[in-house]
Amino acid sequence: MSSPFNHSHAIPEHSTGHTDEGLSRRAFLDKSISVFGWGVVATTLGVGLFENLRFLYPSVVFHPPSKYIIGGIHDFVSDEKPDQYGVISVDTRFKKDHRFFVVRDKERIFALYARCTHLGCTVNWFEDLNIFKCPCHGSEFRSNGHEFAGPAPRPLDRHHISMDSEKRIIVDTALVYSQKEFEKQKIYIRVA
Ligand code: FES
Repeated sequence: MSSPFNHSHAIPEHSTGHTDEGLSRRAFLDKSISVFGWGVVATTLGVGLFENLRFLYPSVVFHPPSKYIIGGIHDFVSDEKPDQYGVISVDTRFKKDHRFFVVRDKERIFALYARCTHLGCTVNWFEDLNIFKCPCHGSEFRSNGHEFAGPAPRPLDRHHISMDSEKRIIVDTALVYSQKEFEKQKIYIRVA
């Protein structure tokens, strides 16, 4: 005789599979929610920490050095006769790396910023023509930096130039003056 409990407590096979699947799905969901929750907490803490560090260490912009020792007065001596603007020589050695020319005239040495005063292209020195020319829109400048052709609205600007206690000439490319200001403040090196 079969027991009445045989059927009443027996769990059908298909039913067992369904429950296991349900349980594992729930476990998976629980786990996912938990991982997500911890992720949110970690992100929040991370952002807070970053902001605090940013506050402790304010952002600093590092500039490359702007002062260059370009030699002594004897490095800019020339036997050339001055041109009609009084310029004896234009030294192009510093143009490629530092974007300035050193001009020696009858009385002074000064540093011309090689940046066109129209839209900022780098001008080139043409020894044979005795002028600076801009490759972008054709502005032209005399050997002393004064504009005479093209759209450039004013002469080339100039950099601060000085001499240290050892008589070395220093150009500071961080300091830029219009030609008028440069003359007014007498920022050049007198050689005669
Ligand atoms: S940028 Fe030099 S002429 Fe325009």
